[in-house]
Amino acid sequence: MDWNALIRPHVGPMVPYAPGLRASEVRTKSGKDVIHKLSSNENPYGPFDSALEGMRAVLPFLNRYPDGAERALKRRLAEKLGVSSSQIVVGNGSNELLTLIAQAVLGPDDEVVFPWPSFIVYPMCTALMCATGVKVPLTSEQVHDLPAMLEAITDKTKLVFLCNPNNPTGTIYGRQAFEKFLAEVPPHVLVVIDEAYFEYVTSPEYPNGLDYFDGNKPIVVLRTFSKIYSLAGARVGYGIAPVQLVQALDKVREPFNVSSVAQVGAYYSLADDAEVVRRRQENQEQKAYLYSCFDRLGISYVPSETNFVYMLTKRPVEVFEALLAEGIIVRDFGTSPALRVGIGTPEDTDATVSAIEAAVAKLGAL
Ligand SMILES: Cc1ncc(COP(=O)(O)O)c(C=O)c1O
Repeated sequence: MDWNALIRPHVGPMVPYAPGLRASEVRTKSGKDVIHKLSSNENPYGPFDSALEGMRAVLPFLNRYPDGAERALKRRLAEKLGVSSSQIVVGNGSNELLTLIAQAVLGPDDEVVFPWPSFIVYPMCTALMCATGVKVPLTSEQVHDLPAMLEAITDKTKLVFLCNPNNPTGTIYGRQAFEKFLAEVPPHVLVVIDEAYFEYVTSPEYPNGLDYFDGNKPIVVLRTFSKIYSLAGARVGYGIAPVQLVQALDKVREPFNVSSVAQVGAYYSLADDAEVVRRRQENQEQKAYLYSCFDRLGISYVPSETNFVYMLTKRPVEVFEALLAEGIIVRDFGTSPALRVGIGTPEDTDATVSAIEAAVAKLGAL
């Protein structure tokens, strides 16, 4: 069999998404009983009680397909967000929505502008559609360079991905810079604002993408239940988009793309705003404590609006291995001089701080 002849030529050079190490692998490797998985920006606590109850109740009915139109969840989201149900699209994680948008919009001659470093799925879904990705480096403060992104837009640009806050740096662009960008972005470009970490943000400078959505402008806002709502394993995210785009995405998506368990979990999660506030507050406390330890140990980092911190180090490989030996899983980026450290429980933070202290004692300045 000539597999190269069978598989579409542009798929050959694509690289599969590399998931972070699993706790079970690290338990075996490190010999530590307690593993602190801080590599995938998950919430350390389980799904909300209301969501768990709802999801349990649906289990006996899994012989039936889910509601392919996700009516109840869309109605609930629409009510909460002040948009129409017809302007909402639900996906198997917001990751699926990124890919569906690429499938609906992109062709081989098109260009896609996105910041870099940022979420790996932007170049992946661009490559999938044989389009050309245009990576625009972040500024020296690790923030989107919106003027440079504007400059990178050409007649061929179909899509711009914005990641606010940005993964992996945790930074946001502010309202003023964003409004200037929106005023100048050409009307043939669809702007996708990925707000996966929206619920963690506390900065008053943050431009909530939804405030700029009017149902006509080519703007999509993507959010997820994977982060503060702790439903990463259920896979459910949503987008707010002009009706015409929602209709196009409905044509390319699978008929039953979101499981009934995920739909119910998301629906009931939306009933507990107090828990969102509590988790955001706890995240802030743990993050502040981690910052204070970084400061004490002379470690540079980028202040974050998310549940992870971009720790700067000239020795990422050695530090990654030193933390792993202590049962702490963080995210590395090969030889890029940084590691992404997730915010977890107080126990996770204590263990991370002890492991970093041990790394400094062993390796010297990190
Ligand atoms: C910026 C960003 N967007 C989207 C996603 C995808 O999230 P999910 O598919 O779990 O909704 C992630 C996940 O880490 C992310 O960091």
